[in-house]
Amino acid sequence: MDKFVITGGAALRGEIPTNGSKNAALPALAAALLTAEPVTLKRIPRVRDIRTMQRLLVDIGSQAEVEGETVCLHTPQIVCPEAPYELVKTMRASSLVLGPLVARCGRARVSLPGGCAIGGRPINLHILGLEQLGARIHQSHGYIEAEARDGLRGAVVHFDRITVTGTEDLMMAAVLAKGETILRNAAREPEVVDVADLLTKMGAQIEGAGTSTIRIQGVEKMGGAEHTIIPDRIEAGTFLIAGAITGGDLAITGCNAGHLDALVSKLQQAGVDVTQPDGGTLRVLGGGKLRSVDVTTEEYPGFATDLQAQYMALMTQAEGIAMITETIFENRFMHAQELARMGANIRIDGKQAIVAGPHELTGAGVIASDLRASASLVLAALVARGETVIDRVYHIDRGYERIEAKLARVGAKIRRVE
Ligand code: EPZ
Repeated sequence: MDKFVITGGAALRGEIPTNGSKNAALPALAAALLTAEPVTLKRIPRVRDIRTMQRLLVDIGSQAEVEGETVCLHTPQIVCPEAPYELVKTMRASSLVLGPLVARCGRARVSLPGGCAIGGRPINLHILGLEQLGARIHQSHGYIEAEARDGLRGAVVHFDRITVTGTEDLMMAAVLAKGETILRNAAREPEVVDVADLLTKMGAQIEGAGTSTIRIQGVEKMGGAEHTIIPDRIEAGTFLIAGAITGGDLAITGCNAGHLDALVSKLQQAGVDVTQPDGGTLRVLGGGKLRSVDVTTEEYPGFATDLQAQYMALMTQAEGIAMITETIFENRFMHAQELARMGANIRIDGKQAIVAGPHELTGAGVIASDLRASASLVLAALVARGETVIDRVYHIDRGYERIEAKLARVGAKIRRVE
């Protein structure tokens, strides 16, 4: 199992390019199942979760050609409409093949994801929506089996709570349903909009993506397309915080600054100098006195839950008390006790983490528990006095492409130990 060895204290300086969004690429790959024609996707990040999804699609019947960040998927026919437990347990986003499979071939057998470090991660809302589109679904042996022999038919689906992949899954199911589907209380994330853009290029008729009501007119057939994935706003946000926490001077290039308004606003309130030289670049000038600023995670355009752990690391260095409230997942403070072992003063009270600062962090042996918690530990290690060893960095490899190379290039003392 790989580890990171990090010696803190270096102020990061220079430019970091942003990769394509993992959370836009995953549904885009699944969307390729909707057509027998080739779909070419560009700016696909080379991270573990993408490789897992590619393997799943090949098992289902896709031919995948990967050249750098371009993936061409061709699924002349669905050979095995299944997402087995072995794959789903490593990546719950595998449930994104559910909608496309039922829409394309009238059936799907997908393992229930089971929980993960940050919460129960149910997919009941995906299932409920598919039933409303006419699929018959039953559950046995840890799998759900969906069937729609006569195809799906449009319906009004109201999500009890906002779900990003639930919205994406149902949008992909609805594009081939007979008639109109309306998704209410839909997720508004940029990744949802990006999937809708790809589906539209493939021939779908979709209105309202990015708002909480999405209307889809079903079509007979979906065609091939070529599409470039949006930049990864969570990767870009993570590096913005890296610049702030080390007191450096970093330009994050190739990002979509507009997707990071909530984070940028909080950083500026906290005393971090963030500017936007152009639409694709955000520059962070750290070094000023950091002030504690409260944050509550919310669905987009609110403060992203995927940046909560990284922001907590920053608040350990801020003057005052920061109240961090996590409203999306039930167990997303796993990083707090590891940060505390490095010297942070954090108290957890239900959905709230109270961070008192500033407290000097010192290097320690810590363990990564999930993707964004790992990023939080890397950020803390960059500012800690001495050496930190982070174990189980396979978590971070799920969503960040060669993060150690990107950070080392701007002055971080970080190396991967096999
Ligand atoms: C997506 O997960 C992202 N993953 C997550 O990013 C992100 O944290 C999350 O959205 C919230 O923004 C991908 O896009 C691949 P949800 P998703 O369905 O879709 C509950 C990362 O670090 N819920 O929006 O699984 C659920 O338990 C990952 O890149 C149900 O109850 O999240 C959660 O509490 C982590 N029933 C809340 O809704 C359902 O059927 C939001 O979950 C579905 C969800």
